[in-house]
Amino acid sequence: MTQCVGIIGHPVGHSLSPVFQGAAFTHLGLDVSYEEWDTPGEELPHRVAALREPGVLGANVTIPHKEAVIPLLDELSQGARQSGAVNTIVHRDGRLGGHNTDGPGFVAALRKEARFEPRARRLLLLGAGGAARGIAFALAEEDVERLHIWNRTPARAASLAGDLAADGCPARALEARAASLSLEGYDCVVNCTSVGLNATELDEPPWNVQTASPGTLIADIVYTPAETPLLRSARALGLPVLPGLPMLVYQGALGFELWTGREAPVDVMFRAAREELARREAARPSGGAGR
Ligand code: ATR
Repeated sequence: MTQCVGIIGHPVGHSLSPVFQGAAFTHLGLDVSYEEWDTPGEELPHRVAALREPGVLGANVTIPHKEAVIPLLDELSQGARQSGAVNTIVHRDGRLGGHNTDGPGFVAALRKEARFEPRARRLLLLGAGGAARGIAFALAEEDVERLHIWNRTPARAASLAGDLAADGCPARALEARAASLSLEGYDCVVNCTSVGLNATELDEPPWNVQTASPGTLIADIVYTPAETPLLRSARALGLPVLPGLPMLVYQGALGFELWTGREAPVDVMFRAAREELARREAARPSGGAGR
């Protein structure tokens, strides 16, 4: 019997997950189809209930349902509970478990793509929304020396830093206007805001990248465009950069392993994702927007 997994979101047509997950299933000869389950809010309970049927391995969850899906599940992993968001659902014998592989996917991208070991390092997160929360709690597991959070709306940064500190993480919120925020004194700065998502939105990042210390890794979780204005500025200054695609692929690889119990063919997934992005870029030179 063909098994299935799908992505639950609204819209889902732009998602790269069907492309690289499908390539991974095919590569390993698994009879699993990866489907697009476009789900308006009112249909979410019905869609999630359908995951309990035999033959369904689980699902990915994307905008705008990562939080709304939580009360519909039977259990949550620690990461999903802490971040308050679920991006991966695993079905076992009629029960649904919620996981968050976004943060661990980012940490895997840091280690495997950027060769950056977060332990005992100083990090600055820009943003305090859902994406930042997932990444912050994953970094909190890594014994970082310092985790500073900056957000345009300071109360949100304070709230996230408070939650992290309560968990024993050396986190602190920073208050400053974007242009006067200093990026000095960090080993890695991560943009978790939606700035840069629309290539036309800003030509220059709102933060002064010139204040970053030499050698600071500048990471962005946006994967379309492949090079955001922030990464372009950082690269021009000779700083190492980490774009958003590796986080996307590694969060998917972790989901694949939860669904199948098999090691994900990460190289195959990267190749499929890059080919699809190149195809889309060629079809629409202005690109799309994705994270
Ligand atoms: P997600 O779940 O993708 O993280 P979100 O929860 O809506 O989405 O969070 C978006 C993040 O981008 C927030 O940190 C937001 O800052 P506010 O909390 O102040 O809204 C940030 N953001 C969006 N537009 C921004 C801008 N022009 N400058 C700086 N930060 C911005």
